[in-house]
Amino acid sequence: MPTPMSAAPISRLRPTPLREFLFGSAYYPEHWDAATRNADPDLLRAAGWNVVRMGEFAWDVIEPEEGNFDFRLFDETIARMAAAGIRTILCTPTATPPRWLTAGHPEILRVDADGRPMQHGSRQHASHFSPLFRAHSRRITRALAGHFAGNPHVIGWQTDNEFHCHFALDHSSDAQAGFAEWLRVRFGNDIAALNRAWGTAFWAQTYSRFEDVPTPRDNRPTWVNPAHALDYRRFLADGVATFQREQVEILRAANSGWWVTHNGCHQVSDYRGALGSDLDFLSYDSYPFFDREPASRASHHAYQLDLVRSYTGNFVIMEQQSGPGGQGDYFLDNPEPGELRRLAWTGIARGADGLLLFRERSCRFGAEEYWIGVLDHDNIPRRRYRETAQLGAEVARVGCELLGTTVRFDVGVAAGDFTCDQGHAPLSLGLPGPGEMAGCVHGVFFRAGHAVGVVHPEDTLEGLKLYVLPHLALFNPVWLPALENFVAGGGTLVVGARTGSKDLNNNVVPATLPGALRELAGVTVEEYGRQNRPEARPLAVRLAGENTDTPTTLWYEQLAPDSDTEVVGTWTTRHLAGKAAITRRTHGRGQVLYVGTYLTNEFAGALLPLLARLGALPCGPGGMVETVLRADATRRFRILINHGEETASVPLPVAGRELLEDQPVAGTLTLAPNGVAIVRES
Ligand code: GAL
Repeated sequence: MPTPMSAAPISRLRPTPLREFLFGSAYYPEHWDAATRNADPDLLRAAGWNVVRMGEFAWDVIEPEEGNFDFRLFDETIARMAAAGIRTILCTPTATPPRWLTAGHPEILRVDADGRPMQHGSRQHASHFSPLFRAHSRRITRALAGHFAGNPHVIGWQTDNEFHCHFALDHSSDAQAGFAEWLRVRFGNDIAALNRAWGTAFWAQTYSRFEDVPTPRDNRPTWVNPAHALDYRRFLADGVATFQREQVEILRAANSGWWVTHNGCHQVSDYRGALGSDLDFLSYDSYPFFDREPASRASHHAYQLDLVRSYTGNFVIMEQQSGPGGQGDYFLDNPEPGELRRLAWTGIARGADGLLLFRERSCRFGAEEYWIGVLDHDNIPRRRYRETAQLGAEVARVGCELLGTTVRFDVGVAAGDFTCDQGHAPLSLGLPGPGEMAGCVHGVFFRAGHAVGVVHPEDTLEGLKLYVLPHLALFNPVWLPALENFVAGGGTLVVGARTGSKDLNNNVVPATLPGALRELAGVTVEEYGRQNRPEARPLAVRLAGENTDTPTTLWYEQLAPDSDTEVVGTWTTRHLAGKAAITRRTHGRGQVLYVGTYLTNEFAGALLPLLARLGALPCGPGGMVETVLRADATRRFRILINHGEETASVPLPVAGRELLEDQPVAGTLTLAPNGVAIVRES
């Protein structure tokens, strides 16, 4: 299992080491003729580009035959870009191994749960567990690193492209053998330890040799052991981290001045583990219009950005949707005038220290011929180019000022724990996972106008007034002391149902629920149940201080408070009537609320007035203007973004200088739809 290489400790409050605000796009010289390539640097520079990212799918160009390297296209493009003032991020091209490799060695292909090897003809078809593919990955990385090590215009690297974006499972024979070896290491070569940890006594699963343990396949013929499934997912995540580690080591050895990143964030990947912490910073590919519902985009976008930042700190947006995007059977909405810029500033507000658009120009061929870039297929600059040029000019003036600052907020929502997320998937009980529920809770606070972000339970809780653990069934007991300190110091902790109910093997804990949190919360769970037809058997909770009930829809817990614990929500229907649904225990200067149901949009929304009455935090201002604070020890930037369809006025708590218009502001600020303001507070 790889341990992280990076010396800089990861934290949501870690800025990137970048000294220049990166602005540009992905660029594909292999898609354009020489005349277009010659004209591009000036065209891009005129719109503010200072960087391009190249090469992630160009292995066939760089090595058309095994061992026969040809770097001319990239040498020339890098030089031409540099002459126009544009520097280059290069990528290892391992998401698309060339045909000579897959034809000569079909055994490197990944295999799905039906035993079907992936085919050549799209991407991500090779197995990270194939020793042969890994040898080729190191070979191409070494060739690239060696060739470009002395090129002053190459500033950093992206490993591969979006690991696990299409596919994470692998049942190839190399993956099977790798899994057995991985288990041998994990369990110290003690097969009895595996049998105990997984509870293989159930359904006669006892193993006597590691090599007999299969990679688990769902529904063959029925549900698999959840501990087996969780360890398989850990193995997949370690595999991709090790695959990346081999590339990172080669790149760092070739030129210690390069930074290395990867563009996430996708399935079965542990970004707080080695995959993220081996990097100088994580990057994120931002496509907010995959949410087909315009009304929820601002909130979903904010959650995704906050989740990314919670893994390792500030990040770079390595790809941001610039136009409508289409593949196969879908074609996303076209960002309306002003939206590309608004999305970009939202990303920057929430922790991006650089932003590249996807892509420079729409390609006329291939699976993404309808993925529309800044420039159209006919290469005539239109409104997306003009809007990008405006953004480029703004970023050139203001972007650098924000470097070194990090995002500050009052409400933290716990999410992004690999074990919690992956443990849920194989035995979900039909309930939404902790990540999805964290998104709901985050959205409720976001829409109410609170400064909200995502905080992993291992990260610092500094600066938070309220911290919510949505439904972390696989709660790690090592998180407990920091939570106790947070509450003792005056914070409000909200614990959602099922938290603490499972151990890190994905087995149910033997302790009375809520397990490790029982004493801090001062409550026991007497009984729980799934609501399958809430309309047939309605359940509802009366919150303290309210005179109407709030229905629940997914799950109930009947709680028994300890003697020093107060009841602040009571079930009102059926056999639960009169029983405790929400409890509150004070501890030191703070309080812990245990909520015996799921924190759905509706239920979490109903909790806000109760939280205000309990002094956790005041009611938020609501509205469509997102306000984010980026700060360091001496500087505070308040970034305001109008996501609504109407002009909005917002009060400014502190006067300052608005940087985009470069003028003093105080009192109230008025923002048109899609409007953005960046106030440096004085
Ligand atoms: C990203 C990917 C790009 C491109 C883009 C548009 O996820 O990294 O290579 O595929 O989506 O589909």
